[in-house]
Amino acid sequence: NEIYLDGLRGVTPRLPMTFAELEPPALAALPPSVRSYVAGGAGDEHTQRANVSAFEEWGLIPRMLVGAKDRDLSVDLFGMRLPSPLFMAPVGVIGLCAQDGHGDLATARAAARTGVPMIASTLTVDPMEEVAAEFGDTPGFFQLYTPTDRELAESLVHRAEAAGFRGIVVTLDTWITGWRPRDLAASNFPQLRGHCLANYTSDPVFRSRLAKSPEDDPSAAVLHWALTFGNPLTWDDLPWLRSLTDLPLILKGICHPDDARRAGDAGVDGIYCSNHGGRQANGGLPALHCLPGVVEAAGELPVLFDSGVRSGSDVVKALALGARAVGIGRPYAYGLALDGADGIVHVLRTLLAEADLLMAVDGYPTLAGLTQAALRHLR
Ligand code: FNR
Repeated sequence: NEIYLDGLRGVTPRLPMTFAELEPPALAALPPSVRSYVAGGAGDEHTQRANVSAFEEWGLIPRMLVGAKDRDLSVDLFGMRLPSPLFMAPVGVIGLCAQDGHGDLATARAAARTGVPMIASTLTVDPMEEVAAEFGDTPGFFQLYTPTDRELAESLVHRAEAAGFRGIVVTLDTWITGWRPRDLAASNFPQLRGHCLANYTSDPVFRSRLAKSPEDDPSAAVLHWALTFGNPLTWDDLPWLRSLTDLPLILKGICHPDDARRAGDAGVDGIYCSNHGGRQANGGLPALHCLPGVVEAAGELPVLFDSGVRSGSDVVKALALGARAVGIGRPYAYGLALDGADGIVHVLRTLLAEADLLMAVDGYPTLAGLTQAALRHLR
């Protein structure tokens, strides 16, 4: 309301109102190595672009005389009532997108201010306990890159439980880093990720594996990271993962209906349809195209979605295609780069305000009424 009424009153917003206008100054504000890491994707980035343009292939059909004066965007997720269906996807180097290098904490503060949950990556600048301490009343989730060392994985999950995280998101599509020409050209992987190892270097199991403490020998930490990261999980690992926690367990990176079905059989609590924002594999389907099939196969399980969401209307379309909650990656990273936690809050509020107003104008006042029948594919 505030953003909208300010606009109607002629107050110029401090920050850009669209993703297209947000991206260039945000990228200019980032150090070059972080810039290419955040903006770039796999291969020639065809899939990354297709993620975004896929939303233009769907059109909402407005309904009139609905009286959509009061809207309800709240949503049930794993037994929690969230004020909106939006969340912040895990972004590994988000810490480095803030001017002070503590972007994980700024993101958590934005979550506290907006009620929009943050999924904190394994790869943070500040340890997960310090990130969780900033969440306020907003639930937070921990994203696990599953180390080969099972004891270390268990330690990370148990620390997340103790720190008050409300769910564990296991990312499946990045057990190895994809073919990313921009990063290979900038040769900046080790430095960037070397700065985001706080969850490892603060971990008792991790420390017990090192000959020297990470403070005495930071390069040992980076090396050990390589050993802990590249774990190609299989379905045989699912019972073990499930046994690690009673928290909701969500599998991220599911795009095939058969995988969604199998995940349901393995006893997970949620499925996260995503192609990692086109960062991992080029030449694939836009994630949005995968969503309806995954939703159908998931049955009763809630489906989270991200990849390519850039506007409030994108959020509404993903919801209509069956997502229970919709995530953004780069948009909030850019908000952070431009103006810290305030920048993230601006991005989240802008997206939500647009989604809310669209639901008003198009006559879909509740999320329950927003189904695939509200959409037509243009081709
Ligand atoms: C990511 N993503 C990601 N995912 C994950 O599970 N763990 C991680 O550490 C990261 N790190 C990461 C870094 C950066 C710079 C980006 C941009 C993304 C993927 C992220 O969670 C999400 O799937 C995509 O960002 C969604 O696509 P959009 O919104 O960026 O198009």
